[in-house]
Amino acid sequence: MAGITIKGLSKRFGAGETAFAALTDLDLVIENNQFVTLLGPSGCGKTTTLRLIAGYLSPDAGTIHADDRLLSAPGSVVPPEARGMGMVFQNYAVWPHKTVYENVVFGLRLRKVPAAEARRKVEETLALVNLTGLESRFPNELSGGQQQRVALARSLVVEPGILLLDEPLSNLDAKLRERMRSELKQLQRRTGITFVYVTHDQAEALALSDRIAVMHGGRLQQYGTPVEVYSRPANRLVADFMGLVNLIPARVVAAHNGGGLVEAEGGLRLALPLPDGAAPGDAVEVAVRPENIRLRAASGDGAPCARITDRTFLGNISEYYATLPSGQVLRVQTHPLQQFAPGETVTIDIDAAQCSVFRP
Ligand SMILES: Nc1ncnc2c1ncn2[C@@H]1O[C@H](COP(=O)(O)OP(=O)(O)O)[C@@H](O)[C@H]1O
Ligand SMILES: [Mg+2]
Repeated sequence: MAGITIKGLSKRFGAGETAFAALTDLDLVIENNQFVTLLGPSGCGKTTTLRLIAGYLSPDAGTIHADDRLLSAPGSVVPPEARGMGMVFQNYAVWPHKTVYENVVFGLRLRKVPAAEARRKVEETLALVNLTGLESRFPNELSGGQQQRVALARSLVVEPGILLLDEPLSNLDAKLRERMRSELKQLQRRTGITFVYVTHDQAEALALSDRIAVMHGGRLQQYGTPVEVYSRPANRLVADFMGLVNLIPARVVAAHNGGGLVEAEGGLRLALPLPDGAAPGDAVEVAVRPENIRLRAASGDGAPCARITDRTFLGNISEYYATLPSGQVLRVQTHPLQQFAPGETVTIDIDAAQCSVFRP
């Protein structure tokens, strides 16, 4: 079992004019036995980070330590096979001409593990990933999910301290992906192996992770628990990437000790925590998720009103487009049995405690 400490890690590809910064100044501490996910859109530097951790790439700046052992620094990289890490890829990369057993035992033979012990370890590992009984099948006789489990077993059998997984579920259909998701989480809990998991799927990251590192443009935007990155996004990029969000332009009316009052066009006023240094007159953006806005019958009690301009019934929720007097359209999600008709005027309540405020 090991934790990883990354300091000031940077990686560029190419040279001169065409050089491209794939990763810039990454600081990250991955604790022992944790499930940590690198999350972000395609091209944000997730795979580059994983390959740096695995030792397939040399950093231009910064260091990677596993516990106290220096693994990577510019010009000095411990090779992948000497790092005690396993890696699982999106495309499984199982050998098509080898049986399940032969695929899984390979790493043990390479390490000259005696045959009887190797057999016992392969059987234990196959049981761990629910493949018992399929030892003599070939990959083309397995489903996609089973092939991905072979790839997992092959990495796990050599008992790595750290398992690196690069979008391992993205080739599976939605139902299977969800099942493998909970299997992966249980596997991590049972083995206590540190998992570093890469995905562009925010729902997957929320469901699996102890901590999520949200990346964008080669830079870490936020590192926190699923609840933190979803409910307390550090900036607009994170808020936007983690799910649906309404961004309401507003102006600070009053500010005091970290809190204050903001007013949006059309008179919508909210008492909120404010960013450091915010002063009256400053332009800000209020971020609020659709499930943190409530609709009720127009009350005339002074609370802001909106007009329902669209309604979509989605089974487990209803989604509304509610247009404020300013013309801004808010997306609102409610219980499906709460129904308002398009054209109806409603009163809206925004849960200020669940809002975040950003500087534009
Ligand atoms: N070997 C390479 N040579 C040049 N550019 C690369 C190389 N590997 C990755 N990149 C670029 O670095 C950026 C980050 O890539 P990557 O880490 O693979 O992103 P992600 O896994 O988040 O989709 C991308 O713009 C990609 O095109
Ligand atoms: Mg990638």
